[in-house]
Amino acid sequence: MPLKLIRDDITRVRCDAIVNAANNSLLGGGGVDGAIHRAAGPKLLEECRTLNGCETGEAKITKGYNLPCRYVIHTVGPIYRDGQHHEEELLRSCYRNSLALAKEYQCASVAFPLISAGVYGYPKGEALKVATEEITSFVMDHDMLVYIVIFDAAAFSLSSKIYTDIQEYIDQNYVDTHTDSISERKRRSKYARHEFSMPFFSQNKKEQAADSCEADEAVGYAPVMAAKEESLEDRLKIIDESFSEMLLRKIDESGMSDSECYKKANIDRKLFSKIRSNPLYKPSKPTVLAFAIALQLPEEECEEMLMKAGFALSNSSKSDIIVRYFISHGNYNIFDINDALFAFDQPTLGV
Ligand code: APR
Repeated sequence: MPLKLIRDDITRVRCDAIVNAANNSLLGGGGVDGAIHRAAGPKLLEECRTLNGCETGEAKITKGYNLPCRYVIHTVGPIYRDGQHHEEELLRSCYRNSLALAKEYQCASVAFPLISAGVYGYPKGEALKVATEEITSFVMDHDMLVYIVIFDAAAFSLSSKIYTDIQEYIDQNYVDTHTDSISERKRRSKYARHEFSMPFFSQNKKEQAADSCEADEAVGYAPVMAAKEESLEDRLKIIDESFSEMLLRKIDESGMSDSECYKKANIDRKLFSKIRSNPLYKPSKPTVLAFAIALQLPEEECEEMLMKAGFALSNSSKSDIIVRYFISHGNYNIFDINDALFAFDQPTLGV
C-alpha cells in the first residue's frame, strides 16, 4: 500500500523525510514542532533561522540532523476558525507543497503528522480526510511510500452515535465472549464434516441424512458411489472463477476503469498489474477488502470475493465485524471505515 496510517511518534519513524507542523516563524514551538526540534538537536533551529520563516500553506526543507531521517520538511498549516476562511485549501496546499519538495529531493518515503489537527484546531476527521485524499492522488502517479502518523489515537474522535452503534454491533456479533461448550463445538465440527462430505447427495437426500440417525452410514456410502462416476482429475477441472477473474469481472460490471478502481482501493499500480496478469494470484485479506469497498460490493459478494482468495469475514475479528457493519449499512466511505477501525484500535484498510 503506498499510503499507510500508523500510530507512532513521528520523531521515531525511519524514512527519507518527516514533515513538521510548524508555525510561520519556523523557530520551533510545542506539539510535533517541539518534539521534532528536541529530537533533531540545536542544529535544526540554526538552519531554520536562515530560512526567513514560511507562509501558511507553503513548505521549506532542512536536514534531519539527529533524527532517523535525511530531511525535515517544515510546513505551516492554517489555524482553523470556522471552515469559511480557506482553511481546507491552505491545508491541501501544505500536503501538495510538502510532497513536491519530497519529490524534488528524491525521497522514497515521507511521514506526515496530521497537520493543523492539534493546536491549530482542525477537526481530526476532516484533517485526516484532506491528508488521505491529497496523498492518495499524489502516490497514484509517483512511486513514494507515505505514512500518516497518528500520535494520540485516543483523541481520535468518532461521532458518539456511530461509536455506540458499532459497539453494539460488535457486542451482538463478537463470538469471543460466548464460545460454545466443547460438546457443542464437537457436534458442529462433526456435522460440518458431514456437510463437507455430503456434496455428492442431491439436496433432499442431504436433508434426510442430516436429520436421520443414519447420517454416518449414509455419508459412508455416498462418497464411494459418487467417486466411481467422477475421477479426481474430473473434479479438478471444475475450478471456480478465481479472485483475480472475479475482480476483473466486477470492475468491468462497475463501469470503472482499472486505474479508477485500484486508486479508489488505494492499491498501487504494480500490485494491480500482478493481480491482473496472474489469474491465480493470492492477495492479502486487506487487499481483497479494499477492492470490495472500492467496488461497493454487497455483503454476500464481498464474502464471495474473500472466499475466492481463501479468506472469510470472521465474527471473532473485531475489524471484520466493523467492516461488515459498514457494508451492511451501505457505507463504503473508506475514511469513515478507517476512522472507526482506528477508534477501535484495529488495523486500517487500504491505508
Ligand atoms: N508525532 C506525531 N504526531 C504528533 C506528535 C508526535 N511526536 N506530537 C503531536 N502530534 C500530533 C498532534 O496530536 C496533532 O494530531 O500532530 C498533530 C498536529 O498537532 P500540532 O503539533 O499541535 O500542530 P498544529 O495543530 O499544526 O499546530 C501548529 O503548534 O506546535 C505548535 O509551533 C507549532 O505553532 C505551531 C502550532
